[in-house]
Amino acid sequence: MTQLSTRRFLKASGLLLAGVMLAACGKKDEAPAPVTTPAPEAASAAAAPPPPAKVYVVGTDAAYAPFESQNEKGEIVGFDIDVVTAIAQKGGFEVKFINTPWEGIFNTLTQGDRDLVVSAVTITEERKQTMDFSAPYFDAYQLIAVKNDAKVTKFADLKKLKVGVQNGTTGDEVVTKLQGKSSPNVKRFESTPLALKELEAGGVEAVVADNGVIVNYVANNAGSNFKTVTDNSFAPEQYGIAFKKGNTELLEKFNKGLAEVKADGTYDAIYKRYFGVAAPAAVASSVPAAAASAASQ
Ligand code: ARG
Repeated sequence: MTQLSTRRFLKASGLLLAGVMLAACGKKDEAPAPVTTPAPEAASAAAAPPPPAKVYVVGTDAAYAPFESQNEKGEIVGFDIDVVTAIAQKGGFEVKFINTPWEGIFNTLTQGDRDLVVSAVTITEERKQTMDFSAPYFDAYQLIAVKNDAKVTKFADLKKLKVGVQNGTTGDEVVTKLQGKSSPNVKRFESTPLALKELEAGGVEAVVADNGVIVNYVANNAGSNFKTVTDNSFAPEQYGIAFKKGNTELLEKFNKGLAEVKADGTYDAIYKRYFGVAAPAAVASSVPAAAASAASQ
């Protein structure tokens, strides 16, 4: 289901609910109903509409195309959005996406402002201490963006350069490790597009971020004259959906749905739509096993 149709559906169910509530209010003003007591089953069938689907609030930093971004209409769209929407459809619940700054995004889980976070979040040992993750749903790695004429050929070449990263990301982590904690040359931005704009403006000499986002940016901004540099010292990363620590019930719901959308081809179709190629078999097949091991932990 697209973002638009999810909204329409939400709107429609909202109207339905409003209608039911109006009808209920209207009843109050009418003459008291006759005291014939219908059979209990009949009463519940007539009085109780199906309970409205549960709506889970999803936080996402929608400045990370093609995973999450805002379109011209201000709607939040992207690969992550479609995957989570597909999971929700399977599970018979609703999801509502709220654009949430990356900085502090995980606190919204602890505070209960968001039920889950889907934001191209890399599953890391450190993060696992403070939140729970779904089974992995995407494989990623860090990628370097530099100007076309830059002499950078490997990650180590960034040791003394001004490097832009999104604050608190895995890109920030690797660059901080390379340059040292107190390096003045790590320039931390609120969002990845801001870091890339700064590269274009010449304020930084490289940007390190997730491959999918860098590739997407370079493809859509030919005028920026960027090239990408890979380095196989970057550890493989996997994205997971994040939940408040201990919210096992919700986590399992999503793991179940994720395994289902993987199994029935929905995930593959979404992947193909965004990346133009078939989903790597490793991701597709790793999910049920990973889901099983996550559930048993
Ligand atoms: N995968 C990286 C991380 O988890 C970057 C994610 C940034 N996501 C975003 N929507 N801004 O640290």
